[in-house]
Amino acid sequence: MSRIELVAPCNFAVESVLAREIKELGFEVAKVEDGRVTFLSDEAGICKANLHLRTAERILVKMGEFEATSFEELFENTKKLPWHEWIPKNGEFPAAKASSIKSQLFSTSDIQAIVKKAVVESMKRKHKVQWFEENGNKYPIHTFLNKDKAALYLDTSGSALHKRGYRELSNEAPIKETLAATMLQLTPWREDRILIDPFCGSGTIVIEAAMKGMNIAPGLKRNFISEGWNRVPKSVWARAREEAEALIRRDIKMTIQGYDIDESALKVARLNARLAGVEEQIHFQKRDVRDLSSRDSYGFIVTNPPYGERMEDLKSVEQLYKDMGKVFAKLETWSFYIITAHEGFERFFGRRADKKRKLYNGMLKTDYYQFYGPKPPRRKENTVQEDFPAE
Ligand SMILES: C[S@@+](CC[C@H](N)C(=O)[O-])C[C@H]1O[C@@H](n2cnc3c(N)ncnc32)[C@H](O)[C@@H]1O
Repeated sequence: MSRIELVAPCNFAVESVLAREIKELGFEVAKVEDGRVTFLSDEAGICKANLHLRTAERILVKMGEFEATSFEELFENTKKLPWHEWIPKNGEFPAAKASSIKSQLFSTSDIQAIVKKAVVESMKRKHKVQWFEENGNKYPIHTFLNKDKAALYLDTSGSALHKRGYRELSNEAPIKETLAATMLQLTPWREDRILIDPFCGSGTIVIEAAMKGMNIAPGLKRNFISEGWNRVPKSVWARAREEAEALIRRDIKMTIQGYDIDESALKVARLNARLAGVEEQIHFQKRDVRDLSSRDSYGFIVTNPPYGERMEDLKSVEQLYKDMGKVFAKLETWSFYIITAHEGFERFFGRRADKKRKLYNGMLKTDYYQFYGPKPPRRKENTVQEDFPAE
């Protein structure tokens, strides 16, 4: 195993949440920048990070970083990187992605072409061949230019990490799994507390919550592109999967409810919950938010209501927020976490949020309104000792 720098890209405004998750997994965080967190690892860490991280978009191996103000500089410096240490002779190595911010080199298609050419030259020299069949495993190269600094990566994930493998079908406006996970990470909700999503749609928030509560690694139901790489042996992947399986809390019972007014969305939600292995943890039911009530105290509502992006929907969404305000006001000891792109949300809801945080739902800027309920009374500590006094 060798020391590797890994980079996890994430949505803007999620960096600190992701950095915390990475630390909690036992990695050393090296740098937190806009839209990405760099951390130190080894080959086994590639498997662990891909399998366990809930808010990362993908996991990249950092191949190198250098100044590049001209295509020549980009070419020469890319050529110097140790591509052959990762990509075998028959490997397929597309320059799959490039982005450029505030840099002199800005044509992403030209950047991709130069990078590809440079990697071919580097591989020719090291593998001592003139022609690459590229019929083996895939090694997608990502190039990121920021203020004339180029960073080159190999993608270890393949399809993005929000694709957990449990979403067979989706309803009209599903939230991304990584965003749902971020929303949950930003609450003090835990598996022994009540959770309701009254606008659950295809169930993403409640499914992500149940998976977190059961400690199901989000990547267990899917494959990753680096599973075929020589550098990350199959045995290392197998061990990481076994370890993740062993961590699942199958005996846990949670109180999680998903409601929606649309029966067809609930059908999708039930199917997705079954595929995710959490169907027994979630009670789905058709219910209008206006009929929401609970006799329980200290619950959490984490939800993604309609935003009313089309003008004709706006009035009805504003009325919906007013009605939500009245219904939620009766849940005096509950906490509410609501994401919406409607900037006047608080006005219609009738209450100012204790905290508001910017988040992105895809390209759409949204706010995450947080209304804190009172803290539940502290549970008696050492109850086991009281029940079973020491001899
Ligand atoms: C933005 S979508 C939620 C998407 C969900 N987070 C997901 O990942 O699939 C909003 C949902 O609110 C539901 N809805 C609209 N009006 C409602 C009402 N009055 N009561 C309950 N649900 C409602 C819609 O059917 C829709 O599924």
